[in-house]
Amino acid sequence: MKECVLDMSMTIRIFDTVRDAGIYVATITEAVIVGNQSPVLGLATGDTPTAFYQALINLHRCGLDLSQVTTVNLDEYVGLDANHPQSYHYFMQMHLFSQTNLSSQNTFIPNGAAPNLIQECARYDEILKAHAIDLQILGVGVNGHIGFNEPADMLLTNTHVVTLREETIASNARFFDRTEAVPRQAITMGIQSILQSKRIVLMAFGAEKADIVARIATGNVSTNIPVSILQLHQNVVLVLDRESARQLVDNYGEVNVQE
Ligand code: GLP
Repeated sequence: MKECVLDMSMTIRIFDTVRDAGIYVATITEAVIVGNQSPVLGLATGDTPTAFYQALINLHRCGLDLSQVTTVNLDEYVGLDANHPQSYHYFMQMHLFSQTNLSSQNTFIPNGAAPNLIQECARYDEILKAHAIDLQILGVGVNGHIGFNEPADMLLTNTHVVTLREETIASNARFFDRTEAVPRQAITMGIQSILQSKRIVLMAFGAEKADIVARIATGNVSTNIPVSILQLHQNVVLVLDRESARQLVDNYGEVNVQE
């Protein structure tokens, strides 16, 4: 075991399968929803949360009512409208909204096709102000971005337009026909909005996330590793699989391993 200080204020759960991890996060989500008259979920896109969405859909099929739930998504590509197959609007329809009784009145995603993006950011901040997030679901980019808050000298607090970094474009190109088709900009919720969530669950799976996972909870916070700012939050759960946790475990020894 190396001599590093792991910020153990974060709960870490390491699962054998992504499916098991998704079921775990769906169970946490159910606990947030049940007994709350107007629960608010902050939602993410990408490959990472899909097993969680499937598990939540399964819970819904078993009777979990989502009709009173409000959802606010983290981000959207600039220039893609809701019908574009690679837009995050489309992703959410496919992976969650269309298979549950979430009301379309209660699901919010930044509009990347808005004619005035500054106004759109302000509009989205008003939505966030009106809907305090009970549980924020996060993935993490290979470079440590959360939402689309990219590594930078400064991180912005509120919803803003961001220019995507080359490594993000390269990583997300797998969802598009070709790299050139990946939008260069996105609208993202800001860091303050994320940190104001009452509870945060960050999921990361697969070997390609091992390096960034090992940098999340070192005791140091850096704007160049945006995900490291989660150490300032009191209620964060890291949900990992064995591959994404490998370097963390190598650095610190076995941590709270969930069998
Ligand atoms: C995108 C999203 C992030 C997401 C990240 C990881 O860039 N904006 O919210 O966490 O990708 O994606 P994946 O889950 O596909 O690895």
